[in-house]
Amino acid sequence: MKAQEDRSGQPLAGRTALVTGAARRVGRVLALALARAGAAVVVHHRRSEQEAAATAAEIAQLGAPVALVKGDLADPDVAAGLIDGAARALAPVDILVNNASVFENAAFADTDCELWDENHAVNLRAPFLLSRAFARALPGDRRGDIVNLNDWRALRPGADHFAYTVSKVGLGGLTQSLAVALAPRIRVNELALGAVLPPEKASEAYGHELRRSIPLDRWPRPEEAADALLFLLTNSAVTGQTILIDGGRHLV
Ligand SMILES: NC(=O)c1ccc[n+]([C@@H]2O[C@H](COP(=O)([O-])OP(=O)(O)OC[C@H]3O[C@@H](n4cnc5c(N)ncnc54)[C@H](OP(=O)(O)O)[C@@H]3O)[C@@H](O)[C@H]2O)c1
Repeated sequence: MKAQEDRSGQPLAGRTALVTGAARRVGRVLALALARAGAAVVVHHRRSEQEAAATAAEIAQLGAPVALVKGDLADPDVAAGLIDGAARALAPVDILVNNASVFENAAFADTDCELWDENHAVNLRAPFLLSRAFARALPGDRRGDIVNLNDWRALRPGADHFAYTVSKVGLGGLTQSLAVALAPRIRVNELALGAVLPPEKASEAYGHELRRSIPLDRWPRPEEAADALLFLLTNSAVTGQTILIDGGRHLV
């Protein structure tokens, strides 16, 4: 592990971020970008134990303070307690990135109560409970940021991924409502991604087919989402904003 360096010149120096679902995929890229920008990072995971440890090791290699927390965000007590857990593990959190999500491709007719509840518990209720705990715990002299990971589908809900999409529409509402409720001390914004990484079970053809419906004719990269995250965290005039990182997918 590298010795901790002087990070005082970096844009997020002195700040501590909690990223949910940060063991792998998009969350991992966001957590690493936060560490590169000077933040201390708490890596949350649920099942991906080894990947979380590997992400934490990469963050430590960058010279950033890092800690791991674990928990199932479908459980409201776990979601409500995670901010305090992160503070105990590392430091009081002043950046919350709600990234963890479930993504099931079930149509309206195939959506039962269980699927509906799971999507809403993880994708919407957990960000609400985490945001509430975050606002309560934020030290009085500190400013804070919440960034929610949304989907272009929330702006143009269709029939696919029914419960997921409706939960993400709710997340968009949560972003805007909290931006007003928590101003001026806490800014609340969101990134609405198009396909940046295919679902793990997706076939190779999936990526090629999807590309046809992306005006920029390519998939955005997770690193481009991370660039937008850093913009949102460093521009103190912006709140209640959605940045679409989707290659124009929402337009067609
Ligand atoms: N990937 C894309 O192209 C894309 C497109 C549009 C929007 N987005 C949004 O961007 C974010 C990240 O996308 P992604 O594809 O990287 O997500 P993902 O792989 O589907 O899920 C990220 C993490 O969420 C965690 N998670 C799932 N259920 C959980 C639960 N009950 N409790 C706690 N953690 C749970 C998992 O952690 P463990 O592995 O540790 O269990 C998982 O690794 C999501 O909010 C997604 O909706 C992504």
